[in-house]
Amino acid sequence: MSPSTKYWLAALAALTGAAQAQNAANDPSSFVNLFIGVTNGGHVFPGATLPHGMAKAGMDTDSPGAQAGYDADPQFNVVGFSSLHDSGTGGGISLSHFKIFPTLNCPNGFDSCLTSANSRKVPRKLKSDGTVDDFASPGYFSTNLTNGVRVELTAASRASLQRHTFPAPNNASQIPRINVDVTNAAGGSATTPLLGINGKSGRVTAAANFQASFGPGRYNVFGCVEFARETSGRSVQPVAPIEWGVWQSNTPLVDLTDAKQIYLGFGSEVGGLLGFRPTSSKGETVLLVRTGVSFISTDQACANAAADIPHFDFDGTAAAARASWNDLLGRVQVQLGNQTDQQDMRKLLYSSLYRTHIVPADYSGENPAWQSTEPYYDSFYCNWDTFRTLYPLMSLHDPERFALIVRGMINIQQHEGWIPECRGATQQQYIQGGSDGDPILGEFFVKYVNQSAKLGVNPADLYNALLASAENLPPDWNLMGRQADVWKEFGYLPADLVAPNGAPTKEVSRALEYAFGDFAISQVAKILGNTADAEKYVGRAGNFVNNWDPNVTVPGGPKNITGMMQLRLLNGSFMFTDPRHCSVNDPTHSTCFLDARNMDGFYESSPLTYSQFVPQDMAKLVELQGGPAAFIERLNFIIDEGYFDVTDEPGQQIPFMYHYADRPGLSTARSRAVISEFFNLTIDGLPGNDDSGAMGSYAFFYLAGLYPVPATRQYLLASPFFPEISFFNPVFNTTATIRATNFAGNDVGAPVFVQNVTINGEPWHSNCFLEWDVFESGATVELTLTEDDAVACGADDSALPPSLSTGGFDVV
Ligand SMILES: *[C@@H]1O[C@H](CO)[C@@H](O)[C@H](O)[C@H]1NC(C)=O
Ligand SMILES: *[C@@H]1O[C@H](CO)[C@@H](O)[C@H](O)[C@H]1NC(C)=O
Ligand SMILES: *[C@@H]1O[C@H](CO)[C@@H](O)[C@H](O)[C@H]1NC(C)=O
Ligand SMILES: *[C@@H]1O[C@H](CO)[C@@H](O)[C@H](O)[C@H]1NC(C)=O
Ligand SMILES: *[C@@H]1O[C@H](CO)[C@@H](O)[C@H](O)[C@H]1NC(C)=O
Ligand SMILES: *[C@@H]1O[C@H](CO)[C@@H](O)[C@H](O)[C@H]1NC(C)=O
Ligand SMILES: *[C@@H]1O[C@H](CO)[C@@H](O)[C@H](O)[C@H]1NC(C)=O
Ligand SMILES: *[C@@H]1O[C@H](CO)[C@@H](O)[C@H](O)[C@H]1NC(C)=O
Ligand SMILES: *[C@@H]1O[C@H](CO)[C@@H](O)[C@H](O)[C@H]1NC(C)=O
Ligand SMILES: *[C@@H]1O[C@H](CO)[C@@H](O)[C@H](O)[C@H]1NC(C)=O
Repeated sequence: MSPSTKYWLAALAALTGAAQAQNAANDPSSFVNLFIGVTNGGHVFPGATLPHGMAKAGMDTDSPGAQAGYDADPQFNVVGFSSLHDSGTGGGISLSHFKIFPTLNCPNGFDSCLTSANSRKVPRKLKSDGTVDDFASPGYFSTNLTNGVRVELTAASRASLQRHTFPAPNNASQIPRINVDVTNAAGGSATTPLLGINGKSGRVTAAANFQASFGPGRYNVFGCVEFARETSGRSVQPVAPIEWGVWQSNTPLVDLTDAKQIYLGFGSEVGGLLGFRPTSSKGETVLLVRTGVSFISTDQACANAAADIPHFDFDGTAAAARASWNDLLGRVQVQLGNQTDQQDMRKLLYSSLYRTHIVPADYSGENPAWQSTEPYYDSFYCNWDTFRTLYPLMSLHDPERFALIVRGMINIQQHEGWIPECRGATQQQYIQGGSDGDPILGEFFVKYVNQSAKLGVNPADLYNALLASAENLPPDWNLMGRQADVWKEFGYLPADLVAPNGAPTKEVSRALEYAFGDFAISQVAKILGNTADAEKYVGRAGNFVNNWDPNVTVPGGPKNITGMMQLRLLNGSFMFTDPRHCSVNDPTHSTCFLDARNMDGFYESSPLTYSQFVPQDMAKLVELQGGPAAFIERLNFIIDEGYFDVTDEPGQQIPFMYHYADRPGLSTARSRAVISEFFNLTIDGLPGNDDSGAMGSYAFFYLAGLYPVPATRQYLLASPFFPEISFFNPVFNTTATIRATNFAGNDVGAPVFVQNVTINGEPWHSNCFLEWDVFESGATVELTLTEDDAVACGADDSALPPSLSTGGFDVV
């Protein structure tokens, strides 16, 4: 625990009653559990970062699932602490540059130190309950290693600071040594490593070229590592190494030449090793290790470090990071009921919210491909995961950041031709579905058109970026854009068409996402007053019907669940894909992952699931599926028979879709069951990968009693897990409060179904959705809850959430 953490806890403990509640409201970081989803495939990053910061200081383990470096499973050893990470991603292990390791395993001095990743690694100490002795809070991470060194991490925007507390040395060989690893990162893909050690100053510069995690590209990354020493009073003093040298594999070579620059053109494992005089022979030695990172040059990495953390002030840097998090997280506030679950639910809410602000990361000024004064955001991994819930959540409380991300996306489109889709480490990575940046830009514009000038977003540039997706065939739709020519010509993606610009797979799931992307574009066109385009793209948004085969049933399933999205041929005939394909009940156990080179037409989920993905026209989908009663039966079948796959994004909306059949109570019950079954405060407390915060935003909405429809002004409504939740919007300077007047907890049987809604005391006609006005103007929404799940949306069809075929979506 850092002194600053101690201070916060002491301050909290000293407070009581209302004062304590007040303090808690100001320190929402204290409700964030960073260790949710850090083992068993969650791939969550639990280290130190600013909101959307580029530097992400975290522990790296030898776990094969260490996509974000960390794994809470004690069987995995620590190989270092590095400054760049993604969070929640799949693909190969990404980034994790440059690993710093406190080395004590040197039986006979410098030349005997174990330096390679495999030989130097050590387990963490365990607590009495057998779990690892790691701690994290927003902006801070600490661990105790079995080699006796305590490591603490914090981060600023482009630099991290590590505090290594070495034990008193046993003998003269055991002086504190720091290993700076150049090559062991990004799945061990390094080429052309370059290392410089300035023995006089102790500055280490590092660079190498690596493979992107989920794409064909490679990238250069640069680091600048410098040292200082902390005395017992926490005052910082400069420190120079007393010995240093380069290592290859397990062979460190001491070299005491001042300011020696060492170049290395090859070598699979390369780094630097520096030894420091112990502070005293009896006491601990506290070394501060500052790492600046850059994608441009080592000079820039050094400049980033000097600008961000000029004085090696560990506690000050950690406190500033926590303050940034508190400012952001504190925009959402909840009142707690007196039920026993409430404290935990608050932790779950803030922990989920926290994870939505790790990436995309602000790499402005770090784009190696072109120079621009516009923001440059990276680590979109991928829009396919995040367009559904993450950005509509950002709309509620963080429009300034949202605008910067949108500007960065537009700038990339202007230089590369298409909106980034799955960018990582400055490289294009593989697209999983459609051009899912379209609904993200649409989401921003529908909600912030009137603030676009203030937020620096040019509407014409935004619209042009969308048109590029919709109209221009890219050289490779695996990496950017979409199969635009074929989509325009056929209104679906024929499975038997030979096309040279991308892989002939996932034609159905891509088409459904293209249709939704076109809907988002139609919304923007409508706002811009471009009626012709609005009509054109509304038409294309309706193309989902072209993949609808009305005659398909589930083998062995109910005969009256008929009709499914299916692959279609050039001549208009449908091909048959078993609706269970790629589901947990798939008799052939297909995965439909990108690397499965599937010829299926569906990406990572089943036809049953994809047949529910038409957010722009759910009324039409209900009709195609036989009307509300049959639609409800189908939803029940999907969920009850295990076809709803909570671990993956394509089906996320399914539990909330009962709204469109006028049974919002069933959505409430189903979404609450998802939370209680799949989201909790444990290290594996989320289903599947967190996917750059996609799962975090999903859980957040369910806990808040809302569900978004991206690129529209509507949020579907259920009841929150708290008697009150509010959202402060810093651009509008308004607060929207949703209050459940007769809240009585979340137990099954409690009144949780919305029976009646008032907005600022006036009756509101729908129990099923709220308008954006509530969040824009600030309002108090009061919900009256009932135990009866048979409640309807309201008196007539106007209470149902909008759909294209029932009048469309208002944009003002
Ligand atoms: C120094 O101490 C370490 C740790 O106790 C031990 O492994 C090593 O053999 C010692 N070296 C010498 C030269 O005594
Ligand atoms: C590590 O050890 C220190 C004492 O040296 C203790 O204060 C701290 O709580 C331990 N755990 C972590 C995660 O830092
Ligand atoms: C819980 O709060 C409700 C009002 O919100 C109150 O009626 C009830 O008595 C409280 N229960 C307990 C156990 O304090
Ligand atoms: C569905 O089945 C009906 C009745 O057999 C047939 O007329 C129709 O052509 C079929 N539709 C498709 C798209 O295969
Ligand atoms: C379309 O093509 C497929 C494959 O060649 C063929 O089996 C099918 O009969 C054709 N359908 C029509 C309506 O011609
Ligand atoms: C669908 O079929 C099941 C029996 O398989 C039946 O219980 C149900 O009522 C039917 N639903 C509709 C809407 O016809
Ligand atoms: C916590 O969530 C995980 C992931 O969804 C789930 O596997 C586990 O059963 C949950 N644990 C509890 C105690 O509910
Ligand atoms: C924001 O609103 C509050 C009242 O709710 C007001 O006191 C404050 O001055 C406003 N801030 C700005 C920047 O307009
Ligand atoms: C909903 O609440 C409002 C305000 O209390 C009231 O006027 C209205 O009659 C209520 N409607 C229903 C259906 O209960
Ligand atoms: C933008 O301003 C116009 C004119 O005041 C208004 O009608 C519209 O609702 C506003 N749009 C949004 C998204 O707030």
